Formats: sequence, structure tokens, C-alpha cells
Amino acid sequence: MTEQGGNDLPEVVRDAGEWRAGVRRWQAAVETVGLVPTMGALHAGHLSLVARSASECRRTVATIFVNPAQFGPAEDFDRYPRHLDGDLNKLRGTGTDLVFVPAADAMYPPGYATYVEVEGLSRQWEGASRPGHFRGVVTIVLKLFQSVPADIAYFGQKDYQQSIVIRRMVADLQLPIEIRVLPIVREPDGLAMSSRNAYLSPDDRRRALVLSQSVRLAARLVGEGERDARRIADRMRELIASTDGVALDYATLVDPDTLAELTEIAGPAVALVAARVGATRLIDNEVIGDYRLQTTGYRK
Ligand code: PAJ
Repeated sequence: MTEQGGNDLPEVVRDAGEWRAGVRRWQAAVETVGLVPTMGALHAGHLSLVARSASECRRTVATIFVNPAQFGPAEDFDRYPRHLDGDLNKLRGTGTDLVFVPAADAMYPPGYATYVEVEGLSRQWEGASRPGHFRGVVTIVLKLFQSVPADIAYFGQKDYQQSIVIRRMVADLQLPIEIRVLPIVREPDGLAMSSRNAYLSPDDRRRALVLSQSVRLAARLVGEGERDARRIADRMRELIASTDGVALDYATLVDPDTLAELTEIAGPAVALVAARVGATRLIDNEVIGDYRLQTTGYRK
């Protein structure tokens, strides 16, 4: 593999076979490899993961793949934003050594039949609203880990349930990779950054603020001493219901590890929210109390 540095565009690889040997050579030279899986349309949230990887690892690999297996039949796979050139430019000078951009038929060739499922944790919240979503996520993440034998993989708290499901998969399958979950990067007004924010009309963009406001409200109520989780969730729902054009999917307080709905705040909690703003489905969350999004897995 070539050395790239400074402000050069990172090298793009489309076939895992081309580079697996190269990544192994890095590892043989005891160069820590960080992996940042994405679906592209990169924003500052993705770039925060890249920056952390580049600061902790000698080598950083980003992947860009809009994974068909995690979209439902009526979801936005076809119109999901795809901006490869813009993405590569955003990765310029970030310390990304390689960008893996597999073709869909390389990841899912004809006859492909193997899927991984994390039971229990995948069933509720996003899993209930998006049947099959986590099966698709976990399968592609495992395949990306196979393609890029990295030491540490970086994920965002933005997709809180996804991070918990992936941690469970890594622990259950004893994968030799560490998982780091980094905080949500927000717009100055509080909206969590998301590739899907590009779908929002100016009116919807304004309405979408109610998601971050609702999870902040939950944190504030806990801070003021409220311990009845159902009352807090009701307040979140009332706030969302008061915004025209926003259709609530769920608003709840859950246990940070099990994602079980809480009735009482007796320790750390996560406020989760999902809603449709116009035609765009958005999610947000906030960790409340003393809970570290710790690392799991083990180092080789
Ligand atoms: P994508 O939505 O592109 O997100 C890639 C990573 O960036 C995820 O770990 C996500 O949690 C993180 N991320 C997104 N928005 C963020 C924000 N505002 N702040 C911090 N991190 C943020 O999540 C996926 O892709 C896919 O499901 C994937 C894991 C790549 C599997 O296909």
C-alpha cells in the first residue's frame, strides 16, 4: 500500500482482497489500525470518529457503503445521499489512510445467504419500527470487520441502540476488536448531525429541533430531581405532540445497557426519541447520569 499523508486524498480501495494483506502488514509492523464504518454523505459527526481514530491509531481506514440489507422495502435506500467525491474531499488531511468503498455485489454476491442477528436487544425501539434493520447492520459490520482486520472500530452515540447491539455482537462472537462509542456531534442549535438532515425542508429543519429539545428536557427533569421515568417520557411526548408536522414514533427512558424501559430513575438512563419530521424519520438520544460509553472487546 502506498504511503499517503498531508493533504492528499486518501487511497480508495474497492475490493477487500486488494488490501487485506496490506492491513495485515501494518499489523505485523505493530501499527494499530482504526476502522470507521459509514454510509457516506459525511458530516462532522463522522469526521469526529475519523479524528479520534487518527489520534489513537497509526492507521485509519474509513468505509463508505450504503448497505442495502439494513433498509426496509419502503425505506430510503434509493434516495439515500451518495456523494463519494465530496466525501473523499472531506477525508483529505484527516489522517485517513484508506477508504474502502465496496460494490454492493461484492458484499452481497448472488446466492448470498448468511445473516447475523443479535436477539433481544434488536427487537425493541428501532428494531420494532424497522424490522430487519439491525440484522442488516450487524451483518455488514461483521463483514467489514472481516474485510478490514482493524484493532479498534469507532461508532457514534447518535445511533445509541446500534452501538449497544454491535457491542453485544462483538462480545458474543469474541471478536478481536475494540469498540469505541463517541459523543453525538450537534449543529449549533442542537440538532444531531445526520446524513438524513439533507432531506429536511427549511420548515422541517426548524421542527426537527424538537427531538434534541425533548431529550434535553428529560435530562433537565432528572437534574431537577424527577425520578418517575414515565412522567418524564410523558413530558417528552407532550413536547413533541405540540409541534405540528412531527409524528412521534417513540420517546422513552431506558437502561443504558439492556435498553429496557425504565419506570424509575435509580441510576444512569438514556432518553431515546424517534419521530417523523415531514417525511423524514430522525432519531436522537441523551445519556443521563454517570454512564461511560465504555470500550468493549479485547486487544490482540
Ligand atoms: P452512518 O449513519 O453513516 O453513521 C456512521 C457512524 O457515524 C455511526 O457509528 C454513527 O453513529 C456515527 N454518527 C452519525 N451521526 C453522528 C453524529 N451526529 N455524531 C457522532 N457520530 C455520528 O450508522 C451507520 O452509518 C451504519 O449503520 C453502519 C454502522 C455504517 C453500518 O452500515
